[in-house]
Order: sequence, then C-alpha cells, then structure tokens
Amino acid sequence: MCGIVGAVAERNITTILIEGLKRLEYRGYDSAGLAVYTQQGQLERRRRIGKVSELETAVTAEPLVGNLGIAHTRWATHGAPTEHNAHPHFSGQDLAVVHNGIIENHESLREDLKGLGYAFTSQTDTEVIVHLINHILKTVPDLGDALKAAVKQLHGAYGLAVISAAQPDRLLAARSGSPLVIGLGHGENFLASDQLALRQVTDRFMYLEEGDIAEILRDQVTIWDQDGQLAQREAVQYHEGAEAADKGTYRHFMLKEIHEQPAVVQRTLEGRLTNDHVMVQAFGPQAAELFAKVRNVQIVACGTSYHAGMVARYWLESLAGIPCQVEVASEFRYRKVVVQPDTLFVSISQSGETADTLAALRNAKELGFLGSLAICNVGISSLVRESDLTLLTLAGPEIGVASTKAFTTQLVSLMLLTLALGRVRGTLEAGVEAELVEELRRLPSRLGEALAMDSTIEKTAELFADKHHTLFLGRGAQFPVAMEGALKLKEISYIHAEAYPAGELKHGPLALVDSDMPVVTVAPNNELLEKLKSNLQEVRARGGELVVFADEHAGLTNGEGTHVIKVPHIIDALAPILYTIPLQLLSYYVAVLKGTDVDQPRNLAKSVTVE
Ligand code: F6R
Repeated sequence: MCGIVGAVAERNITTILIEGLKRLEYRGYDSAGLAVYTQQGQLERRRRIGKVSELETAVTAEPLVGNLGIAHTRWATHGAPTEHNAHPHFSGQDLAVVHNGIIENHESLREDLKGLGYAFTSQTDTEVIVHLINHILKTVPDLGDALKAAVKQLHGAYGLAVISAAQPDRLLAARSGSPLVIGLGHGENFLASDQLALRQVTDRFMYLEEGDIAEILRDQVTIWDQDGQLAQREAVQYHEGAEAADKGTYRHFMLKEIHEQPAVVQRTLEGRLTNDHVMVQAFGPQAAELFAKVRNVQIVACGTSYHAGMVARYWLESLAGIPCQVEVASEFRYRKVVVQPDTLFVSISQSGETADTLAALRNAKELGFLGSLAICNVGISSLVRESDLTLLTLAGPEIGVASTKAFTTQLVSLMLLTLALGRVRGTLEAGVEAELVEELRRLPSRLGEALAMDSTIEKTAELFADKHHTLFLGRGAQFPVAMEGALKLKEISYIHAEAYPAGELKHGPLALVDSDMPVVTVAPNNELLEKLKSNLQEVRARGGELVVFADEHAGLTNGEGTHVIKVPHIIDALAPILYTIPLQLLSYYVAVLKGTDVDQPRNLAKSVTVE
C-alpha cells in the first residue's frame, strides 16, 4: 500500500506534503518522494529510499519552495525499492505523477510508448501513466481532458495525482479502485489517499467515488463522474479522533469496531480485485514468482489470528487444493518442525509485534521455507519488515482488546490469498475465482445486514447473564468460527466457554450438558447441516438449551429450549466471515449485562510482545 499527498495553496506547500507523508507512514513504506512547482517556474523533485525522515533531510538540505506539489510514500509492487522507482515519476521535465494501485496492462502500454520514443527510467507500472498523459497532451492540450483520455486506457486499480509545469495552478486526480480524498481549505485545497494525512491543514473532506476525476484549484474543486458528467460530492466535517481515539456515539470501542466491519472489509478489498480476479501483485513484487512454486502452506499465529488461520486451511485445501498446516506460534517455535518442500510460511497478526509469532517467523527462516508472507494490520511492524511478502489487512487502529475487525479483515485477506495462490498454481476450478470476487464485492453490505441483528442478539444475551459455562459448536470452516466465538465470550464476560467440532460432542463434552450449560451453534445451509441438526438433537435430549445462528433457509425453528436466530443466506465459502458478526455481538452484550470492562478485560493486553 502506498500513500499520496497533494496541495495547491498560496503558501509554501513543501512542509504540508512532508507532514502528510509522515502521517501515512504508519502503514510502512520503503521510499518516498515529492515534486514541487517552484518559484523558478519549474517542476523539481526529491526522492529517497527508506523512511520519510530521509526525504525530509534531503529537502532540508536542498529546500524546495512552491505553491503546487504532489508527494508519495511507496510500498513496492513493481520494481525494487530504489530511488529510480520512487514516485513522483516524470515525463520530460514538465509533467509529474504519483500513483497508488496496480496498472495491469502496463507491459503493453510500455511497449507502445517506447515505440513512440518515450524513455523509461524505472521498472514501475506507474511510469506508463505519466508518459501516456504526456503523449495525449500533444493532441489534447488541456490536462484534465488528457487525464480523462488516459485513464480510459488503464486496466487495473489506481488513485493518482498529476501536475504540469505548463498548467501550474491545477492539481488533477483520478480514482478507480484505490481511495482518494480532497481536503478543503480556505483559499487552498489538498489531496490524499487517506484523510489522516491532511488533518493538520483541514477538517473538511470530500471523498472521490469510483471513476471520479477531480480538478483541484486553490479556490475551487470540480469533479466529473465515471460517465464524464459533472458531479457533486458532499463535503464532510471530520471530528477529531472519529476513526481511532474516540468512541463516537458508541458505548465501547469494541461495539464501534464491530460496526466498522463493513467499511474496513471494503477497504481491505479495495485496489486488490479486478472484475474477475485477485491481483497477485497486491502481495508484493515477487509474489507471482514465489506463488508459482508453492506446493504447501504453513500458517502460524496466536489467539484470534490463529482462528483466522484455521478457517484459511479449509479454504486453501477445499478451494485451491493446496495442503495447509496451521499451528499456534508458541508451539511451532519450540517444536522440531519437518518442512515439506516448497512450503510458504504465512504469519497472521493484528499487531505484527506478537513475540511468539515473530520468533516463529525468525525460526522459520532457518528451516528452509520457500518464503514468508505476513498478513498484518500494522505496516511498520517487525513482522512486516521481516517477511518477504505482505498483505496489510487495513482494519485501521483496533483499540478494544478483544479483536473483532482485525479478525474479519484477516479472513478476507486469507480468502484473497487462497484465490491468488489457486490461480497462480492452476488449482482452482473454473469460474470459482470470478464467482467469489463477485461475492466478496457484496460482502460489506452482507455484513451490514448481519449487524442489523444487533437488537435481537442483545435480547438473546440475557440467557447467558447468570451462566458460568457454555459450549460453542460448529462443523467444517465454522468450527474455528465457534472457537473464535468462545474466545470472545471468555475474554470479555469471563464466562467459561469451550468450542468443539459438533461431531466430537458425543465423544466426551456431552457429559457436561445440562440446563445450566447453554450451547451456541453456527448453522449455515451447507452439506453438513443435516449432521449438525442431529448434534443439536443430542443436546436437546439432555436438557441443554440451544442458541442457534442459522441460515434463513436452514429449516430450523424456535421450539422449547431452542432459540433460532436467522442469519441472511450467503455463499458457503464466505459464511465464516458473516457468522462471526453475531457471535461478536453476543459476547459484547453478555459482557455489558455482566458489567465487565469490555474494552480492557482483566489480565489481557492488546499487543503481546512478551513470550
Ligand atoms: C483475542 C485477541 C488475541 C490476539 C493474539 C494475537 O481477542 O486479540 O487473542 O489475537 O494476542 O495478537 P496479534 O494478532 O496482534 O498477533
């Protein structure tokens, strides 16, 4: 993931650009650069490998002063993190572009542009954009019109900004698959890939929509939609801390973060999907080459992240046909592990600083794995820095100690991994990827439907308020979902909760079942449903009270001792993500009833950096 900042103002904008880049650096970047239209009437650029502070030092040593500029922090996808590959990219001396996303047809565009005499100085996909616009400008002199014509030729995902020395009062931007926001000032305006970058200069924002093109002047913003029609985008006042440090209207961070899930899942998907497939490059520049060699996957993680890994095992084996092992990091790291040839080591972590997961990664490097991939929420974390490939989960800061939105974005990321690996290895059945890409696009709104169950679940929570023990049951990929549900309940309500694969019930835990031991079950409408129904009978026959989260078409109904809560139907592969939501809400409302400290439960900490 990369970051973009742009500014057009009466004052010098260089410090604004640098400050904006610093605010985006939390995602983790490998190089940074900026281009400014200077008082000398020319575009000048500074680029540096490494952190934004390196760029800042360079700009302090050789200052750039101007009223128009664009800046970028890079997370390499095409071409290594070198100064030549750092943005902004130039075509000639007069045109500069910064870009987030991946241009999939960059190779053919590059060949065409080379044929037209354009010299390339980087290995990036971005450089084709700037030469393409330059070429169009020869016949379409207006920068806005040239940009509109250029984006028609781009396939893939982009959020981009362009400036020209020939039209130095204008900042142009285009969005498709990679977010951009305009910051509105007084007599000055700004652009960024995340509003976080602009909070130092404004609290009013306008969010570009898919296909939008924007012209940003000092005192005016004009937006055209994907059909080229003039469009109005609402200006939104931002309240400090709305995303992280403030609970807003929610009583607890946990509830706020549960309700953020449609939005953060959307963000996790953004820029990583085409119409019918997952972009392999989203995992890093060497992903395609490395994935092509993968014959096995070893997943290692702790706690909630481990549960995400367990779901992924079902997906990797059933959808992509790739053998997968999953282990908690604190076991893996101390065990003598036999590594199968061509095994990809995948670590999963919200914080990227969990001591056991990090140690497991470091051990893995000695053990002959093919390579390492981190699925992580913090771009500047040790786990990310030390892994060969990364996919950021983009859940945003998670403040509640009990992990919620981090888990669902991990699941989405692991589904992307399953599809990407399966396609590169040629092991996916025809049509599966396109179907799942379509379903993933619908997922945020499906999660919204699940959140609408909030008040029903709040009532159901009353059943648990005086209980000391519960059982959670699930089958297949829903077994780890049941484990995650049990973990949430025990963490924040202190009720003892155990999860079992439903088929294991009769092999022991059934002995515990009585009217004081509610049994929570997740029941999507899949080929295991009939088997699950038999397990539920086993519970009822022993007087156990059942709370069943069941697919609306599962044919399960309320009865004595059986509380059925209908869940909207969803394709089975994505059911683990959807069914997580009611279980999170259940644990939340039980904890509220019990009056525990929901956001900071006893004995626990957010980031476990000790062994
Ligand atoms: C549970 C929870 C923990 C973490 C675990 C790993 O709600 O938050 O179980 O999942 O400590 O942490 P990360 O994902 O940061 O490695």
